[in-house]
Amino acid sequence: MNEDKLGTVMLDEETIARRVAELGAEISADYERDYPGEPVLCITILKGGAIFASDLLRRLTVDARIDFMAVSSYGSSTKSSGVVKINKDLDTEIAGKNVLIAEDIIDSGLTLQYLVESLWARGPKSIRICTFLDKPARRKADIKPDYVGFEIENRFIVGYGLDFDEKYRNLPYITCLDE
Ligand code: IMP
Ligand code: MG
Repeated sequence: MNEDKLGTVMLDEETIARRVAELGAEISADYERDYPGEPVLCITILKGGAIFASDLLRRLTVDARIDFMAVSSYGSSTKSSGVVKINKDLDTEIAGKNVLIAEDIIDSGLTLQYLVESLWARGPKSIRICTFLDKPARRKADIKPDYVGFEIENRFIVGYGLDFDEKYRNLPYITCLDE
């Protein structure tokens, strides 16, 4: 069997939990200030974002709801083409609502750019983006997250929802694949 080689732990469980708590507090304070009393709809992109979003949701102190989307990018599995197919759509109407997208990682940003454009067409009141990890060096799309957990260098990351060939999503920490 071909075993992948994992690097050292880049972000451990405690570091992740501390940062997610900080993000939750910051996001809650911002929404309380900007949209007092209004619910926030947290939209998560399956599958990678599910782990982060479920942790983040429990750190939001405003009226927060959750919904899920599953998308796939046309083209090869390693290169994002920026054209996205929606495999599972939201259950919720987002017209007039405050949407918070919770993503696992922004790489080229092409997937998210396409998604944000198609969500704006549904008439939400606001859209903000929170990504657990950001690889700004790889950005190809004009997309800027409002909230970032950690900025990381250009490595292939696994764990805490992020996969390589569907493996390692279950790791409670963040590491990388060693080439
Ligand atoms: P983008 O369209 O290039 O921004 O692609 C973003 C998506 O690619 C993420 O939501 C992940 O599913 C996947 N992805 C990007 N970088 C990594 C990585 O380092 N490890 C695991 N998945 C990644
Ligand atoms: Mg993703």
